[in-house]
Amino acid sequence: MKTITLGIFGGGTVGGGVVEILSQQKAVFEAQGICIEIKKLCVRDTGKKRDFQLPEETIVVSDFSKILEDEEIDLVVECIGGTTKAKDIVFESIKKGKSVVTANKALISAYLSELEALLAQYPKAGFGFEASVGGGIPIIHTLARDLVGDPIQKISGILNGTTNFILSKMEKEGADYAKTLKEAQDLGYAESDPTADIEGYDARSKIAILAKVAFGVVVEESSIFMKGISQITKEDFAYADLLGGTIKLLVVAEKKGNSFSIYVSPMIVPYSHNLAPIGGATNAVLIGSKYLSETVLVGQGAGRFPTANAIVSDILLIAHGVDVAAFSKKESLVKDDNIEGKFYIRMRIKDGLGIVRRVAECCEKAGVSIDSVQQLPIENPNDVPFVVTTDKTTLSAIEKVCEEVGRETFCLEKPFFMPIL
Ligand SMILES: NC(=O)c1ccc[n+]([C@@H]2O[C@H](COP(=O)([O-])OP(=O)(O)OC[C@H]3O[C@@H](n4cnc5c(N)ncnc54)[C@H](OP(=O)(O)O)[C@@H]3O)[C@@H](O)[C@H]2O)c1
Repeated sequence: MKTITLGIFGGGTVGGGVVEILSQQKAVFEAQGICIEIKKLCVRDTGKKRDFQLPEETIVVSDFSKILEDEEIDLVVECIGGTTKAKDIVFESIKKGKSVVTANKALISAYLSELEALLAQYPKAGFGFEASVGGGIPIIHTLARDLVGDPIQKISGILNGTTNFILSKMEKEGADYAKTLKEAQDLGYAESDPTADIEGYDARSKIAILAKVAFGVVVEESSIFMKGISQITKEDFAYADLLGGTIKLLVVAEKKGNSFSIYVSPMIVPYSHNLAPIGGATNAVLIGSKYLSETVLVGQGAGRFPTANAIVSDILLIAHGVDVAAFSKKESLVKDDNIEGKFYIRMRIKDGLGIVRRVAECCEKAGVSIDSVQQLPIENPNDVPFVVTTDKTTLSAIEKVCEEVGRETFCLEKPFFMPIL
Protein backbone atom coordinates (compact mmCIF):
# COMPACT_ATOMS: atom_id res chain seq x y z
CA MET A 1 0.00 0.00 0.00
CA LYS A 2 1.36 3.40 -0.98
CA THR A 3 0.58 6.18 1.50
CA ILE A 4 0.18 9.79 0.33
CA THR A 5 0.20 12.43 3.05
CA LEU A 6 -1.85 15.53 2.30
CA GLY A 7 -1.88 19.08 3.54
CA ILE A 8 -5.05 20.88 2.47
CA PHE A 9 -5.29 24.67 2.34
CA GLY A 10 -8.93 25.79 2.59
CA GLY A 11 -11.89 24.15 4.27
CA GLY A 12 -14.67 26.00 2.46
CA THR A 13 -16.94 24.83 -0.36
CA VAL A 14 -14.26 22.96 -2.32
CA GLY A 15 -11.82 22.01 0.46
CA GLY A 16 -14.68 20.54 2.52
CA GLY A 17 -15.81 18.50 -0.47
CA VAL A 18 -12.30 17.09 -0.95
CA VAL A 19 -12.19 15.98 2.70
CA GLU A 20 -15.61 14.33 2.39
CA ILE A 21 -14.88 12.48 -0.87
CA LEU A 22 -11.52 11.24 0.45
CA SER A 23 -13.28 9.80 3.52
CA GLN A 24 -16.21 8.32 1.59
CA GLN A 25 -14.06 6.69 -1.09
CA LYS A 26 -11.24 5.55 1.21
CA ALA A 27 -11.93 1.85 0.62
CA VAL A 28 -12.06 2.32 -3.16
CA PHE A 29 -8.68 4.05 -3.18
CA GLU A 30 -7.19 1.44 -0.82
CA ALA A 31 -8.36 -1.28 -3.20
CA GLN A 32 -6.19 0.50 -5.79
CA GLY A 33 -3.25 0.32 -3.39
CA ILE A 34 -3.42 3.98 -2.34
CA CYS A 35 -3.93 5.17 1.21
CA ILE A 36 -4.53 8.91 1.47
CA GLU A 37 -4.05 10.59 4.82
CA ILE A 38 -5.07 14.17 5.48
CA LYS A 39 -2.41 15.18 7.98
CA LYS A 40 -3.22 18.89 8.18
CA LEU A 41 -5.94 21.33 7.13
CA CYS A 42 -5.05 25.03 6.99
CA VAL A 43 -7.90 27.55 7.36
CA ARG A 44 -8.16 31.20 8.37
CA ASP A 45 -10.27 30.54 11.47
CA THR A 46 -9.35 27.30 13.25
CA GLY A 47 -12.27 27.69 15.68
CA LYS A 48 -14.99 27.89 12.97
CA LYS A 49 -17.53 25.06 12.93
CA ARG A 50 -17.14 23.17 9.64
CA ASP A 51 -19.96 21.62 7.60
CA PHE A 52 -17.95 18.43 7.02
CA GLN A 53 -16.39 15.74 9.17
CA LEU A 54 -12.60 15.81 9.51
CA PRO A 55 -10.71 12.57 10.17
CA GLU A 56 -9.78 12.39 13.87
CA GLU A 57 -6.07 12.47 13.19
CA THR A 58 -6.18 15.63 11.04
CA ILE A 59 -4.65 18.70 12.68
CA VAL A 60 -6.28 22.06 11.92
CA VAL A 61 -3.83 24.96 11.58
CA SER A 62 -3.86 28.55 10.37
CA ASP A 63 -0.13 29.01 9.85
CA PHE A 64 0.94 28.15 6.27
CA SER A 65 4.39 27.01 7.37
CA LYS A 66 2.89 24.16 9.40
CA ILE A 67 2.15 22.48 6.08
CA LEU A 68 4.88 23.94 3.88
CA GLU A 69 7.65 23.00 6.36
CA ASP A 70 6.25 19.56 7.14
CA GLU A 71 8.49 17.12 5.33
CA GLU A 72 6.01 14.26 5.74
CA ILE A 73 3.49 16.06 3.55
CA ASP A 74 4.04 15.09 -0.07
CA LEU A 75 0.97 16.61 -1.68
CA VAL A 76 -0.60 20.02 -1.09
CA VAL A 77 -4.19 20.81 -2.11
CA GLU A 78 -4.76 24.54 -2.55
CA CYS A 79 -8.40 25.59 -2.09
CA ILE A 80 -8.18 29.08 -0.61
CA GLY A 81 -8.45 31.00 -3.90
CA GLY A 82 -7.02 34.37 -4.90
CA THR A 83 -3.69 35.12 -6.50
CA THR A 84 -1.54 36.34 -3.62
CA LYS A 85 -1.38 33.93 -0.66
CA ALA A 86 -2.41 31.04 -2.89
CA LYS A 87 0.53 31.87 -5.16
CA ASP A 88 2.97 31.68 -2.22
CA ILE A 89 1.50 28.34 -1.20
CA VAL A 90 1.63 26.81 -4.67
CA PHE A 91 5.09 28.11 -5.61
CA GLU A 92 6.62 27.32 -2.21
CA SER A 93 5.19 23.80 -2.20
CA ILE A 94 6.62 23.05 -5.65
CA LYS A 95 10.01 24.45 -4.61
CA LYS A 96 9.96 22.06 -1.66
CA GLY A 97 9.33 19.19 -4.08
CA LYS A 98 5.72 18.70 -2.99
CA SER A 99 3.05 17.95 -5.58
CA VAL A 100 0.22 20.46 -5.84
CA VAL A 101 -3.42 20.14 -6.82
CA THR A 102 -5.49 23.29 -7.19
CA ALA A 103 -8.85 24.56 -8.49
CA ASN A 104 -7.56 28.12 -8.77
CA LYS A 105 -8.07 29.26 -12.39
CA ALA A 106 -7.24 32.88 -11.62
CA LEU A 107 -3.84 31.91 -10.23
CA ILE A 108 -2.94 29.45 -12.98
CA SER A 109 -3.99 31.76 -15.77
CA ALA A 110 -2.15 34.77 -14.31
CA TYR A 111 1.09 32.85 -13.71
CA LEU A 112 1.13 30.31 -16.55
CA SER A 113 4.68 31.01 -17.73
CA GLU A 114 6.13 31.13 -14.23
CA LEU A 115 4.39 27.91 -13.24
CA GLU A 116 5.57 26.16 -16.36
CA ALA A 117 9.17 27.25 -15.72
CA LEU A 118 9.02 26.28 -12.05
CA LEU A 119 7.58 22.84 -12.77
CA ALA A 120 10.36 22.23 -15.31
CA GLN A 121 12.86 23.02 -12.54
CA TYR A 122 11.18 20.64 -10.07
CA PRO A 123 10.17 17.66 -12.19
CA LYS A 124 9.35 15.49 -9.18
CA ALA A 125 6.51 17.80 -8.12
CA GLY A 126 3.25 16.75 -9.76
CA PHE A 127 0.77 19.50 -10.66
CA GLY A 128 -2.95 18.90 -11.10
CA PHE A 129 -5.47 21.57 -12.08
CA GLU A 130 -8.39 19.64 -13.56
CA ALA A 131 -10.80 21.49 -11.23
CA SER A 132 -9.73 24.92 -12.44
CA VAL A 133 -11.71 24.74 -15.70
CA GLY A 134 -15.27 23.52 -16.01
CA GLY A 135 -15.50 22.30 -12.38
CA GLY A 136 -16.51 18.67 -12.60
CA ILE A 137 -16.06 18.33 -16.37
CA PRO A 138 -12.86 16.37 -17.11
CA ILE A 139 -11.62 18.76 -19.77
CA ILE A 140 -7.92 19.06 -18.82
CA HIS A 141 -7.35 15.30 -18.63
CA THR A 142 -9.30 14.81 -21.86
CA LEU A 143 -7.14 17.33 -23.73
CA ALA A 144 -3.81 16.39 -22.18
CA ARG A 145 -4.17 12.61 -21.94
CA ASP A 146 -7.08 11.21 -23.89
CA LEU A 147 -6.61 13.33 -27.01
CA VAL A 148 -2.83 13.32 -26.83
CA GLY A 149 -2.59 11.77 -30.30
CA ASP A 150 -5.22 13.94 -31.89
CA PRO A 151 -4.25 17.46 -33.04
CA ILE A 152 -6.72 19.89 -31.52
CA GLN A 153 -8.04 22.60 -33.79
CA LYS A 154 -10.75 24.35 -31.85
CA ILE A 155 -12.14 24.65 -28.34
CA SER A 156 -15.41 26.43 -27.81
CA GLY A 157 -17.81 26.31 -24.95
CA ILE A 158 -19.82 27.63 -22.07
CA LEU A 159 -17.51 27.85 -19.08
CA ASN A 160 -19.34 30.25 -16.81
CA GLY A 161 -22.43 28.92 -15.08
CA THR A 162 -23.60 32.30 -13.73
CA THR A 163 -23.86 33.94 -17.14
CA ASN A 164 -25.41 30.85 -18.69
CA PHE A 165 -27.99 30.81 -15.93
CA ILE A 166 -28.83 34.49 -16.54
CA LEU A 167 -28.96 34.16 -20.35
CA SER A 168 -31.08 30.99 -20.20
CA LYS A 169 -33.54 32.72 -17.89
CA MET A 170 -33.70 35.81 -20.13
CA GLU A 171 -34.39 33.58 -23.11
CA LYS A 172 -37.06 31.52 -21.36
CA GLU A 173 -38.88 34.38 -19.65
CA GLY A 174 -38.28 37.19 -22.14
CA ALA A 175 -36.92 39.09 -19.15
CA ASP A 176 -34.61 42.08 -18.85
CA TYR A 177 -30.95 41.68 -17.98
CA ALA A 178 -31.02 43.77 -14.77
CA LYS A 179 -34.07 41.96 -13.35
CA THR A 180 -32.59 38.55 -14.18
CA LEU A 181 -29.22 39.41 -12.63
CA LYS A 182 -31.01 40.44 -9.41
CA GLU A 183 -32.91 37.14 -9.37
CA ALA A 184 -29.68 35.20 -9.97
CA GLN A 185 -28.10 37.03 -7.02
CA ASP A 186 -31.11 36.30 -4.79
CA LEU A 187 -30.90 32.60 -5.71
CA GLY A 188 -27.15 32.46 -5.02
CA TYR A 189 -26.20 31.88 -8.66
CA ALA A 190 -24.47 35.26 -8.92
CA GLU A 191 -22.19 36.98 -6.42
CA SER A 192 -23.09 40.35 -4.90
CA ASP A 193 -20.25 41.76 -7.03
CA PRO A 194 -20.89 39.80 -10.22
CA THR A 195 -18.23 41.56 -12.36
CA ALA A 196 -15.84 38.61 -12.68
CA ASP A 197 -18.61 36.45 -14.12
CA ILE A 198 -20.77 38.82 -16.15
CA GLU A 199 -17.94 40.79 -17.75
CA GLY A 200 -16.16 37.59 -18.81
CA TYR A 201 -13.04 37.62 -16.58
CA ASP A 202 -13.74 34.16 -15.14
CA ALA A 203 -14.31 32.63 -18.56
CA ARG A 204 -11.22 34.42 -19.90
CA SER A 205 -8.95 32.78 -17.28
CA LYS A 206 -10.39 29.40 -18.23
CA ILE A 207 -9.89 29.74 -21.99
CA ALA A 208 -6.32 30.99 -21.38
CA ILE A 209 -5.64 27.74 -19.49
CA LEU A 210 -7.29 25.59 -22.17
CA ALA A 211 -5.29 27.34 -24.92
CA LYS A 212 -2.11 26.32 -23.12
CA VAL A 213 -3.20 22.71 -22.66
CA ALA A 214 -4.66 22.31 -26.15
CA PHE A 215 -2.31 24.39 -28.30
CA GLY A 216 0.77 24.86 -26.10
CA VAL A 217 0.55 28.66 -26.16
CA VAL A 218 0.83 31.03 -23.22
CA VAL A 219 -1.55 33.95 -23.67
CA GLU A 220 -1.47 37.09 -21.58
CA GLU A 221 -5.02 37.31 -20.18
CA SER A 222 -5.35 41.05 -20.74
CA SER A 223 -4.61 40.57 -24.45
CA ILE A 224 -7.65 38.33 -24.96
CA PHE A 225 -10.67 39.99 -26.59
CA MET A 226 -13.40 39.94 -23.94
CA LYS A 227 -17.01 41.08 -23.99
CA GLY A 228 -19.45 40.26 -21.20
CA ILE A 229 -23.22 39.94 -21.13
CA SER A 230 -24.21 43.19 -19.42
CA GLN A 231 -25.27 44.81 -22.71
CA ILE A 232 -27.52 41.94 -23.81
CA THR A 233 -31.18 42.96 -23.95
CA LYS A 234 -34.43 41.04 -24.21
CA GLU A 235 -34.71 42.44 -27.76
CA ASP A 236 -31.44 40.67 -28.64
CA PHE A 237 -33.12 37.39 -27.74
CA ALA A 238 -36.11 38.28 -29.93
CA TYR A 239 -33.75 39.02 -32.84
CA ALA A 240 -31.68 35.89 -32.15
CA ASP A 241 -34.91 33.89 -32.34
CA LEU A 242 -35.77 35.57 -35.64
CA LEU A 243 -32.36 34.39 -36.85
CA GLY A 244 -33.06 30.84 -35.64
CA GLY A 245 -30.88 30.86 -32.56
CA THR A 246 -30.20 31.91 -28.99
CA ILE A 247 -27.43 33.79 -27.14
CA LYS A 248 -24.65 32.21 -25.06
CA LEU A 249 -21.49 33.61 -23.50
CA LEU A 250 -18.85 31.53 -25.25
CA VAL A 251 -15.13 31.05 -25.01
CA VAL A 252 -13.38 30.24 -28.26
CA ALA A 253 -9.78 29.31 -29.06
CA GLU A 254 -9.09 28.27 -32.62
CA LYS A 255 -5.91 27.29 -34.40
CA LYS A 256 -5.46 28.10 -38.08
CA GLY A 257 -2.12 27.06 -39.56
CA ASN A 258 0.54 28.89 -37.59
CA SER A 259 -1.83 31.31 -35.94
CA PHE A 260 -4.67 31.14 -33.42
CA SER A 261 -7.47 33.34 -32.24
CA ILE A 262 -8.90 33.45 -28.74
CA TYR A 263 -11.84 35.37 -27.31
CA VAL A 264 -14.73 35.55 -24.85
CA SER A 265 -17.99 36.98 -26.14
CA PRO A 266 -21.72 36.53 -26.18
CA MET A 267 -22.57 34.88 -29.48
CA ILE A 268 -25.63 34.02 -31.51
CA VAL A 269 -25.82 30.22 -31.39
CA PRO A 270 -28.10 28.50 -33.93
CA TYR A 271 -30.77 26.31 -32.29
CA SER A 272 -29.35 23.34 -34.21
CA HIS A 273 -25.92 23.70 -32.55
CA ASN A 274 -24.83 21.38 -29.71
CA LEU A 275 -24.33 24.34 -27.34
CA ALA A 276 -27.79 25.87 -27.89
CA PRO A 277 -29.75 23.63 -25.49
CA ILE A 278 -27.20 23.93 -22.63
CA GLY A 279 -29.28 25.75 -20.04
CA GLY A 280 -28.99 26.94 -16.44
CA ALA A 281 -25.62 26.81 -14.69
CA THR A 282 -24.43 23.84 -16.75
CA ASN A 283 -21.07 24.05 -18.55
CA ALA A 284 -20.20 22.51 -21.91
CA VAL A 285 -17.05 22.30 -24.00
CA LEU A 286 -16.75 21.34 -27.64
CA ILE A 287 -13.39 20.05 -28.81
CA GLY A 288 -12.76 20.11 -32.53
CA SER A 289 -9.90 17.79 -33.41
CA LYS A 290 -8.40 16.16 -36.48
CA TYR A 291 -9.39 12.54 -35.83
CA LEU A 292 -12.36 12.68 -33.46
CA SER A 293 -13.90 15.60 -35.32
CA GLU A 294 -16.13 16.86 -32.51
CA THR A 295 -16.16 15.79 -28.86
CA VAL A 296 -18.68 17.34 -26.47
CA LEU A 297 -18.29 17.39 -22.70
CA VAL A 298 -21.28 18.59 -20.68
CA GLY A 299 -21.68 18.77 -16.92
CA GLN A 300 -21.57 20.72 -13.71
CA GLY A 301 -19.05 23.51 -13.92
CA ALA A 302 -18.96 24.35 -10.21
CA GLY A 303 -20.21 23.33 -6.79
CA ARG A 304 -18.72 21.43 -3.85
CA PHE A 305 -18.70 17.86 -5.06
CA PRO A 306 -18.20 18.27 -8.82
CA THR A 307 -15.15 20.47 -8.17
CA ALA A 308 -13.84 18.34 -5.31
CA ASN A 309 -14.18 15.23 -7.47
CA ALA A 310 -11.89 16.80 -10.08
CA ILE A 311 -9.35 17.55 -7.33
CA VAL A 312 -9.54 14.01 -5.99
CA SER A 313 -9.04 12.65 -9.49
CA ASP A 314 -5.77 14.64 -9.74
CA ILE A 315 -4.67 13.46 -6.28
CA LEU A 316 -5.18 9.84 -7.31
CA LEU A 317 -3.33 10.25 -10.62
CA ILE A 318 -0.36 11.80 -8.83
CA ALA A 319 -0.50 9.08 -6.17
CA HIS A 320 -0.34 6.47 -8.93
CA GLY A 321 2.70 8.26 -10.34
CA VAL A 322 0.90 9.42 -13.47
CA ASP A 323 2.25 12.65 -14.90
CA VAL A 324 -0.71 14.40 -16.50
CA ALA A 325 1.84 16.64 -18.28
CA ALA A 326 -0.87 19.14 -19.03
CA PHE A 327 1.67 21.92 -19.61
CA SER A 328 3.95 19.83 -21.79
CA LYS A 329 2.70 21.09 -25.15
CA LYS A 330 4.69 24.05 -26.47
CA GLU A 331 4.08 25.75 -29.78
CA SER A 332 4.98 29.15 -31.12
CA LEU A 333 1.78 30.24 -32.80
CA VAL A 334 1.01 33.85 -33.69
CA LYS A 335 -2.05 35.30 -32.02
CA ASP A 336 -4.45 36.76 -34.56
CA ASP A 337 -6.58 39.41 -32.86
CA ASN A 338 -8.62 40.19 -35.93
CA ILE A 339 -11.32 37.60 -35.24
CA GLU A 340 -13.03 36.38 -38.39
CA GLY A 341 -16.65 35.41 -38.75
CA LYS A 342 -20.18 36.57 -39.32
CA PHE A 343 -21.42 39.25 -36.94
CA TYR A 344 -24.65 40.56 -35.45
CA ILE A 345 -24.86 44.35 -35.05
CA ARG A 346 -27.70 45.86 -33.01
CA MET A 347 -28.37 49.58 -33.14
CA ARG A 348 -30.82 51.65 -31.15
CA ILE A 349 -32.15 54.30 -33.49
CA LYS A 350 -34.66 57.10 -33.78
CA ASP A 351 -36.82 56.03 -36.71
CA GLY A 352 -36.56 58.07 -39.89
CA LEU A 353 -35.96 58.00 -43.63
CA GLY A 354 -32.72 56.77 -45.19
CA ILE A 355 -31.38 54.94 -42.15
CA VAL A 356 -30.97 51.55 -43.85
CA ARG A 357 -29.18 53.25 -46.75
CA ARG A 358 -26.80 55.09 -44.38
CA VAL A 359 -26.00 51.90 -42.39
CA ALA A 360 -25.36 50.08 -45.67
CA GLU A 361 -22.99 52.88 -46.75
CA CYS A 362 -21.03 52.56 -43.48
CA CYS A 363 -20.79 48.80 -44.03
CA GLU A 364 -19.67 49.26 -47.62
CA LYS A 365 -17.01 51.77 -46.58
CA ALA A 366 -15.59 49.26 -44.08
CA GLY A 367 -15.72 46.45 -46.65
CA VAL A 368 -18.46 44.61 -44.77
CA SER A 369 -21.13 42.75 -46.73
CA ILE A 370 -24.61 42.72 -45.15
CA ASP A 371 -26.26 39.32 -44.94
CA SER A 372 -29.64 40.43 -43.56
CA VAL A 373 -31.52 43.41 -42.15
CA GLN A 374 -33.83 42.59 -39.23
CA GLN A 375 -36.62 44.78 -37.94
CA LEU A 376 -39.19 43.70 -35.36
CA PRO A 377 -42.49 45.67 -35.36
CA ILE A 378 -41.83 49.17 -34.05
CA GLU A 379 -43.29 49.91 -30.59
CA ASN A 380 -41.64 53.29 -29.97
CA PRO A 381 -40.36 55.17 -33.08
CA ASN A 382 -38.02 57.23 -30.88
CA ASP A 383 -36.15 54.14 -29.67
CA VAL A 384 -36.06 51.27 -32.15
CA PRO A 385 -33.73 48.29 -31.83
CA PHE A 386 -32.61 47.53 -35.35
CA VAL A 387 -30.28 44.71 -36.44
CA VAL A 388 -28.06 43.84 -39.35
CA THR A 389 -26.15 40.60 -39.73
CA THR A 390 -23.05 40.39 -41.88
CA ASP A 391 -21.34 37.92 -44.13
CA LYS A 392 -17.91 36.68 -43.07
CA THR A 393 -15.72 39.61 -42.13
CA THR A 394 -13.27 40.70 -39.44
CA LEU A 395 -13.54 42.21 -35.97
CA SER A 396 -11.68 45.37 -37.02
CA ALA A 397 -14.10 45.96 -39.92
CA ILE A 398 -17.09 45.53 -37.57
CA GLU A 399 -15.54 47.94 -35.07
CA LYS A 400 -15.18 50.49 -37.89
CA VAL A 401 -18.85 50.08 -38.87
CA CYS A 402 -19.99 50.54 -35.26
CA GLU A 403 -17.75 53.59 -34.81
CA GLU A 404 -19.14 55.23 -37.93
CA VAL A 405 -22.81 54.33 -37.40
CA GLY A 406 -22.48 55.43 -33.76
CA ARG A 407 -21.65 58.97 -34.95
CA GLU A 408 -24.93 59.30 -36.91
CA THR A 409 -27.59 61.53 -35.35
CA PHE A 410 -30.26 58.81 -35.66
CA CYS A 411 -28.16 56.47 -33.50
CA LEU A 412 -29.03 56.67 -29.77
CA GLU A 413 -25.91 54.82 -28.55
CA LYS A 414 -22.84 53.13 -29.95
CA PRO A 415 -24.02 49.95 -31.72
CA PHE A 416 -23.51 46.63 -29.96
CA PHE A 417 -22.06 43.69 -31.86
CA MET A 418 -21.36 40.02 -31.24
CA PRO A 419 -20.13 37.15 -33.43
CA ILE A 420 -22.47 34.54 -34.88
CA LEU A 421 -21.38 30.94 -34.30
N1 LIG B 1 -16.87 26.95 -5.24
C1 LIG B 1 -16.84 26.40 -6.44
O1 LIG B 1 -17.84 25.87 -6.94
C2 LIG B 1 -15.56 26.39 -7.23
C3 LIG B 1 -15.53 25.81 -8.51
C4 LIG B 1 -14.33 25.76 -9.23
C5 LIG B 1 -13.19 26.33 -8.67
N2 LIG B 1 -13.26 26.93 -7.44
C6 LIG B 1 -12.03 27.50 -6.89
O2 LIG B 1 -11.70 26.83 -5.67
C7 LIG B 1 -11.05 27.71 -4.77
C8 LIG B 1 -11.75 27.70 -3.42
O3 LIG B 1 -13.09 28.12 -3.59
P1 LIG B 1 -14.20 27.89 -2.45
O4 LIG B 1 -15.51 28.17 -3.10
O5 LIG B 1 -14.00 26.60 -1.77
O6 LIG B 1 -13.85 29.08 -1.44
P2 LIG B 1 -14.44 29.30 0.05
O7 LIG B 1 -15.67 28.50 0.26
O8 LIG B 1 -14.49 30.76 0.26
O9 LIG B 1 -13.30 28.68 1.00
C9 LIG B 1 -12.06 29.29 1.17
C10 LIG B 1 -11.33 28.59 2.29
O10 LIG B 1 -9.99 29.10 2.34
C11 LIG B 1 -9.69 29.47 3.66
N3 LIG B 1 -8.80 30.63 3.61
C12 LIG B 1 -9.00 31.78 2.92
N4 LIG B 1 -7.95 32.60 3.13
C13 LIG B 1 -7.10 31.96 3.95
C14 LIG B 1 -5.87 32.30 4.55
N5 LIG B 1 -5.29 33.47 4.32
N6 LIG B 1 -5.27 31.40 5.36
C15 LIG B 1 -5.84 30.21 5.59
N7 LIG B 1 -7.03 29.81 5.06
C16 LIG B 1 -7.64 30.69 4.26
C17 LIG B 1 -11.00 29.82 4.33
O11 LIG B 1 -10.86 29.64 5.72
P3 LIG B 1 -12.09 29.96 6.74
O12 LIG B 1 -13.13 28.94 6.41
O13 LIG B 1 -11.51 29.77 8.09
O14 LIG B 1 -12.51 31.36 6.44
C18 LIG B 1 -11.95 28.82 3.67
O15 LIG B 1 -11.95 27.62 4.38
C19 LIG B 1 -11.01 29.07 -5.50
O16 LIG B 1 -9.78 29.20 -6.17
C20 LIG B 1 -12.15 28.96 -6.50
O17 LIG B 1 -11.95 29.78 -7.64
C21 LIG B 1 -14.40 26.95 -6.71
